[in-house]
Amino acid sequence: MVGSKDLEPSHAPFFPNVFFHNQFRAKPQWPAPGTSLSGKTAIITGGNTGLGYEAGLQLLDLDLSRLILAVRSVEKGKAAAAKLRRLHPESTIDVWELEMSSYPSIQAFAKRVDSQLPRLDMAILNAGVMRFNFQVVASTGHEEIIQVNYLSTMLLALLLLPILKTKRAPGGEPARLTIISAALTLSAKFPNRDATPLLPSFDDPGTFDRQEHYISSKLLAHMFLWNLVDHVSADDVIVNLADPAWVKGTELIRDPRGPAVRAAFKLFGATTGRTPRVGASCYVDAVVNKGKEAHGCFLMSWRVHPFAAVLYTPEGRVVTQRVWDETLAELGFAGKSRRTQDDLDRSLPASPIIQPNAIDHVNNVLSEYQLIHASDDTAKVLRAFVDHLSGPVATASGKQPPITPSPNQSAAFAIELAMTQIEGSTRGGQKLLKEACLRRDGKRCAVSGLIDSEAYKMMPPGERRGTG
Ligand SMILES: NC(=O)c1ccc[n+]([C@@H]2O[C@H](COP(=O)([O-])OP(=O)(O)OC[C@H]3O[C@@H](n4cnc5c(N)ncnc54)[C@H](OP(=O)(O)O)[C@@H]3O)[C@@H](O)[C@H]2O)c1
Repeated sequence: MVGSKDLEPSHAPFFPNVFFHNQFRAKPQWPAPGTSLSGKTAIITGGNTGLGYEAGLQLLDLDLSRLILAVRSVEKGKAAAAKLRRLHPESTIDVWELEMSSYPSIQAFAKRVDSQLPRLDMAILNAGVMRFNFQVVASTGHEEIIQVNYLSTMLLALLLLPILKTKRAPGGEPARLTIISAALTLSAKFPNRDATPLLPSFDDPGTFDRQEHYISSKLLAHMFLWNLVDHVSADDVIVNLADPAWVKGTELIRDPRGPAVRAAFKLFGATTGRTPRVGASCYVDAVVNKGKEAHGCFLMSWRVHPFAAVLYTPEGRVVTQRVWDETLAELGFAGKSRRTQDDLDRSLPASPIIQPNAIDHVNNVLSEYQLIHASDDTAKVLRAFVDHLSGPVATASGKQPPITPSPNQSAAFAIELAMTQIEGSTRGGQKLLKEACLRRDGKRCAVSGLIDSEAYKMMPPGERRGTG
């Protein structure tokens, strides 16, 4: 089957053609009888209500063993979990806190997933907002719809990818990562597409347009995925975008202005909306029915569909690349420039402490995204990583730490990500760090500048001249 990137772009008008097809013509694809998710673990963000809740229920109906409801309100999450447990007492249903407008909350959630889940088969990134009013997330300075639906969702996707890869089912079945999208992306006007830089242009209250901001938040994810899938193997994690179509009876439209607008939405939903059950079946289709053929694809009405036509144009390619670069730059710092020093202190190690598997971890992260193709770049990335790790040792001993610049923003992001995973000091870890430093520095100690005594003993006598 041909993926979204290789399909011909569709120029069918969204209203009425695409909308009419989605709402009235397309037929749900339910999992085949006998499909079982027994033994599997799934995460659903925003699983306390609406489509996320319904998707959780449908996965449990397929014998899912463990469901993590990742929610911003633990109270609401517990109420939803209680309802699900009554229907599925045999499954484990957990409620874990996740505030999608906070980078530290997302990082803490990913860390918890990594440290507490023995297994992870699928993650559905469903949490999302639609706002009628311009709102800014104070901790990042970004407009809320773009923050939650796009920037934070991409950060969570990037943090979960390596975890999904390592904690998927034994036996090699790929894990699944599905990001919830919207068919409305096909109607995107994207008025600020030429803004440079692009992402901050969404934070201008003067250009806020509720509908376009919501559509753009989902379109940006299409653009990010376009590049992301080049760095993720479908053998490890199948990543895709799924649209539930227009669904009635959820809480998405929360702050419509006035009773007339509320009544209009209700009537529009009642006459044209899918039920949450049918809408959420698109999520289940993406993570259960679809396989590698849907990797990197936009799934609409249970089928692989082209992305918005703009992505296929030369102009769209330029914007897509800009979206990728700007997003990695934003997430590379994980909002660092806007965060308080306290946040920074919490997320970065204060001293050069390293777990035994930290270098493995960074290598995994690097190969995960295939950030490095040329051997030159490999060397630079590893040198930059070792500089990050050993910097505090040099500083502590009054020396200027060496700083090798990362060859690209993606590598800088991977290193930053790895650094947030490192905590706790062990002898094994320190040995690894020392070895890496010695390799980098021609066997000289980063602190004293002298040849390491162990290395000295191993050197052929002729090479020992001039050593300290
Ligand atoms: N309904 C539709 O017609 C439709 C169509 C296309 C796409 N979608 C997409 O489908 C997804 C689910 O929408 P829905 O219709 O089910 O809406 P919903 O009923 O409002 O559910 C949204 C979920 O996201 C959570 N959420 C919102 N902001 C969050 C934040 N900052 N941190 C953590 N969680 C947050 C909400 O938590 P709280 O309950 O605590 O607020 C809720 O659990 C969204 O991504 C939406 O864009 C919906």
